[in-house]
This record gives sequence, C-alpha cells and structure tokens, in this order.
Amino acid sequence: MNEWAGLSDLVASALLIGGIKAMSHPRFAHRGIVLAGWGMLIAVVGNVSVYSHLAPATWLWAGVAILLGGGVAWLTSRRIAMTAMPQMVALFNGLGGGAAALIVVTELLNPASLRGLTLGFGLIALTIGSLSFGGSLIAFLKLAGRLRHPWRFRHQNELHLIWFGLIALLAVGFFTLPQTRDLTPIFVILAVGLGIASTGPIGGADMPVVISFYNALTGLAVGVDGLLLRNPALLIAGTVVGASGTLLTRLMAKAMNRSLGAVLFSHFGATLEKGTGEAEASKEMDLTDAAVSLAYARKIRIVPGYGLATAQAQHKLAELTEWLIHKGVEVRFPIHPVAGRMPGHMNVLLAEAGVPYELIQDLEEANPEFSQVDVVLVIGANDVINPDARNNPGSPLFGMPILEVDHAPKTLVIKRGQGTGFAGVANPLFTAETTYLLYGDAREVLNRLLAALKSL
Ligand code: TAP
Repeated sequence: MNEWAGLSDLVASALLIGGIKAMSHPRFAHRGIVLAGWGMLIAVVGNVSVYSHLAPATWLWAGVAILLGGGVAWLTSRRIAMTAMPQMVALFNGLGGGAAALIVVTELLNPASLRGLTLGFGLIALTIGSLSFGGSLIAFLKLAGRLRHPWRFRHQNELHLIWFGLIALLAVGFFTLPQTRDLTPIFVILAVGLGIASTGPIGGADMPVVISFYNALTGLAVGVDGLLLRNPALLIAGTVVGASGTLLTRLMAKAMNRSLGAVLFSHFGATLEKGTGEAEASKEMDLTDAAVSLAYARKIRIVPGYGLATAQAQHKLAELTEWLIHKGVEVRFPIHPVAGRMPGHMNVLLAEAGVPYELIQDLEEANPEFSQVDVVLVIGANDVINPDARNNPGSPLFGMPILEVDHAPKTLVIKRGQGTGFAGVANPLFTAETTYLLYGDAREVLNRLLAALKSL
C-alpha cells in the first residue's frame, strides 16, 4: 500500500467514527451523515491509487461501476419518501453484504490466495455476507409490502439448523478437497438461500430489528474482508458498523422487551394472547370539545406513534404545536424508543416538520410528569402506551417499558377505528374513564382540530 492510501484510510476512518458519533444526537445527525459520506469518498479515491498498475480496461469497468452504483444510490435517496426509508436501508444493507461476499468469491477464484486461517476468515465473511444479502432482500420485500405473509411450517428452525450444518460441511471441504473451485457457487447459493429461508417466517413488523441485525452482520463481513485484503479502511469501517449495528439491535430488542432469539426464532404474531379491556366501549369526543380542552390547558403532552407516520401528519402536528405554544401552552413530545417502525422514526418525522428538538422527551423524563399535565394527546400510538405492559402478565407486551399515559388526568386519542397496534392486542387505556377518542385519519383530524382551535 502506498502512503496516499495509508493517509486516506486514516482520514476516512476519523471522519467515519466522528460521523457516527455525531449521528447519536438528532441536532448533529445531518452533519454526521455528511462527514461519513466524505469519509467514504476519501477512502474510495485514496485506495484507487493502490491499483494504479491495472490495465485501462479494468479502470474503465471500475469507473462505470462506481458511476452506476453511486448514481442509482443518489437518485433513489433523493426520491424516497420518509415512510419508505426502512426498505431502502434494507436494500442497501443487503447490497453491502453481497459486495462483502463477492470480495471473498474473487479471492477464492485464486486458490493460492487463501489458506489456513485466512481461508477460515474468508469463509466466515462469505457466509455472513451471503446470509445478510439473502435475508435483507426478503426484509426489503416485506417492508415494502410486496411479501405480506410470513411462510411458516412445523420444524422450520430444525430445517434451518440442518441447512446450516450443510454449509459447515462444505466449509470443511474447502480445507480438505484437492479441487475446490466448484464448491464456491454451491456454498454461496446455500448461504444466500439460508438467509432467505430464515427471514421468511419472521413477521413484517419485526423487520427493523432484523435489518439492524443484518446490518451488524454486513459490518462484520466487511471487517473480515478488510483483514483479508489488509485494507485498514474496510477493517475499521466494517468493525464500526458491526459494533453499532449490534448495539442498535440490542437496544431495539430491549425496548420491545424481546430477546433477539425470540425475534429470529419464535416468529412473533403466530400465537398471541389477548389483552384486557376490549369488551368495554370507548368514549368519543367531538372536535370542538377537544379544541377547548387543548386551548385551556397549561401543560400538554403529545405522544406520536406509527399512525402519525402512516398518515404523514407531522406537518399538521407542527402547525398545531406552534399555535398552542403561541397561546402560552407548555407542549412536550414524549417519544418511546420503538414508537413507529424504525429506530428514531418519530424523532426524524418531528425534526423533518421543524419541531424544535428541545420539546422532545425520552421515556425516563416523560413518565414522572404525566400525572402533572392537563391533557395528553395521543396520535396513532398504541402498544407503546398500553398499560397491560405493566399490569397484565398474560399480555405479550408484559414487561415492555411504556409511556405511562394512563397516569394523566385526561387523554385524547386520535385513531381511525378499533384497530390494534403492532402486537395485535387490545389497549385498556382506550376504554379508561379519563380517555376520549377522536376517530379519523390523523392528518384529517389534526387539520379539523386546528381549524376548531382557530375558531374558538
Ligand atoms: P402501534 O402499536 O403499531 O399502533 C399504531 C396505531 O395507529 C394503531 O392503534 C392504529 O389504530 C393507529 N393508526 C394507524 N394508521 C393511522 C392513521 N392513518 N391515522 C390515525 N391513526 C392510525 O404503534 P406504536 O404505539 O408507535 O408502537 C410501535 C410498535 O411497533 C411497537 O409494538 C413496537 O415494538 C413495534 N416495533 C417498533 C420498531 C421500532 S424500532 N420503532 C421496530 C419493530 C417493531 P387504527 O387502525 O384504529 O387507526
């Protein structure tokens, strides 16, 4: 490696780590993305100089690949809707896993290049990169709503275990057989197939956790590639992505009160116990009364959930918030870590609509205050405020930390009808004495609520 490549790796790694650090705070997240992007560019340009001895035709192919890949990524990222972000992340992550696997395939084409320990590492990278590629493609289809039904049958986990055993057996073949060239395509097909087969039975709503897990695997595969190619930029970038993906997976699984094993192997949604409270009727409130409750409150908490995202109601909400603040009402937004369908979903939506970050509260800050506010307005949230998570050991949500909205003196809930949340269970908060329902699509209801407030 020449000095330029070494220097560019150092600068790129610093930018990448600084970028990821900045992404941990919503206010600096945009800057973090830009920093990491520059890091990527510097790493690519710097490492290209290592290959200056290559033939012009190879350079041409590499240039076409970079322009094509970069162009498609740039175009799709510009056009994608905020609600379609999870499937885009899934697709790009899968391509990353696939690229990491292809690097090993090219090394395996030259049997002399990988031996002993390096062959072992290569096969590990090939397995996890291929798994991540196959699994992420299925996650992409599920998140995009193109694959609606999880495929499930008896002894599925056992079949996947045998499948994995076959892959391990083939791996042994790479060390023991004299001629291994033909093993590579079979190995890749089996590993990609296992990624597809093992992601198929997982419910669509669990996909964000699965994607974050595959993201960690892709990072790991890229890191191992870095070891094989002795490329520090790949090694550092892969390790950082692998570590942050692992932390994110753990955080998300914890906030949903599920283990990663339960997400991957127990196929949530197949058998659910019922929650309490579905027998009683809920109370509806008309919009003028709701507007009066909000206009004359001193302290309001607004709890957003998945329904806010599907209705694309964040801009109307920002307008309503501005009106309330202008009238002297204290407004805060308690946000549950897994509200919505992807990490930071609500934070991103509210930031996009221009809601100041200072107004956002996390679970620990919000919970002690619910009993002291005048009104809580819930917009399309359900599981993350279900008191059964605290009170009903039979509920699948039992033990999940929730926003304790049930402690508030008055709660207004915007939802379209009797729909349940992601967990598919009833929510006793909706039939509580202090809760009033405002039925309708979140954006429409907020629109009419704002009009009612302005006409008071
Ligand atoms: P959910 O529990 O999914 O509830 C969404 C609610 O919004 C439903 O009650 C639905 O009722 C209502 N709704 C849907 N569309 C609407 C619209 N257009 N207008 C108004 N209301 C609408 O949402 P949540 O409370 O945000 O909880 C998130 C769930 O997803 C949790 O169970 C969490 O574990 C899971 N999850 C989250 C993540 C991450 S990382 N965020 C990842 C995987 C899973 P109606 O049908 O009656 O309108």
